[in-house]
Amino acid sequence: MPILAIESPVTSRVPSTAIPAPAGSTAAARKHGIVPMPALDWNEQVAAETAHLYERIKGVIPAVEWPVFAPYVKAINELKRTRNAVILAHNYQTPEIYNCVADIVGDSLQLAREATRVKADIIVQCGVHFMAETAKILNPDKTVLIPDSRAGCSLAEAITGADVRLLRARYPGVPVVAYVNTSADVKAEVDICCTSSNALQVVESLGSDTVIFLPDQYLAKYIASQSKVKIIAWKGSCEVHERFTGDELRIYRDSDPNLKIIAHPECPPDVIAESDFTGSTAHMIDWVRRERPKRVVMVTECSMADNVQAELPDVQFVRPCNLCPHMKRITLPKILDSLVYMKEDVVIDSTVAEKARRSVERMINLRN
Ligand code: 13P
Ligand code: SF4
Repeated sequence: MPILAIESPVTSRVPSTAIPAPAGSTAAARKHGIVPMPALDWNEQVAAETAHLYERIKGVIPAVEWPVFAPYVKAINELKRTRNAVILAHNYQTPEIYNCVADIVGDSLQLAREATRVKADIIVQCGVHFMAETAKILNPDKTVLIPDSRAGCSLAEAITGADVRLLRARYPGVPVVAYVNTSADVKAEVDICCTSSNALQVVESLGSDTVIFLPDQYLAKYIASQSKVKIIAWKGSCEVHERFTGDELRIYRDSDPNLKIIAHPECPPDVIAESDFTGSTAHMIDWVRRERPKRVVMVTECSMADNVQAELPDVQFVRPCNLCPHMKRITLPKILDSLVYMKEDVVIDSTVAEKARRSVERMINLRN
């Protein structure tokens, strides 16, 4: 089905510029206390205790860099135990985070699902702010920390709760689906959330011939191409995926006809048209694990190829390197600061969180 309309905000958006909380000033710091900063020396003991972790990433991180990372890795893993904390990390996190300190890794849907099962007192979300908010929405009584609250997302910035209320007034009775890449304010105003893993299933579960789908216009177009449901979209886009072009992929393909191209559905339609497979980050990883292509381009954020390369050294990854600047705000030193100083505490107004929880839980509870 072609898209029915692409709506956009009436007023222009000013990106949020949250100021990080000073060390020790958060509610989480008052609740859990702060601890001394561990020593961060590189010595034989640190080398021996972290050698098994370096093994996992030796194909993607040069040995000369490990003495910089290893003391942080050791300190973070020890503090996780003493703090009773877990680290959830998105597939776009850098290899030393994804492979050496994360307890749970995955795409947005997997991280949201896992957040409902966490037993620890503290969740450190290594991803962007909407992911940390989703973990907090699902765990209102736990401490949820994000190592840098300025880790935003161009999609989450593209729409507000007030925009959703205006859309509802313009299209009365039409159900509203929000991609999880939105703020808690937006989630509180919609009927159900979705991720790139389940967007088609969510749209079709509503039993409506028309659905408002926001804020990613390209994901909306992709879903419309797969479904008979008529879609009203929003003019948001991912600043990382919108930079890929079909022309660029044709150049890769012409240089090697056996090359496989797999793309995230946040990419524009001409990119998806050039691809052998389209899916969420977790579905893309599963595809590579299953198909074991000789050479593949993963048309998505660049760190993901490093993470899969570490696991599958025989696959050759061709890397058009588009980095997400927001995901890259999360670093080992900031994760350690999170665990030492209990920052930055994710706080959501309880009324907003309760309404948002309904939309997120309705998605999580959808049967496969
Ligand atoms: P996934 O849910 O596919 O991991 O996507 C999240 C995201 O932000 C992609 O840019
Ligand atoms: Fe947002 Fe795009 Fe970054 Fe994903 S890659 S977090 S959609 S800006």
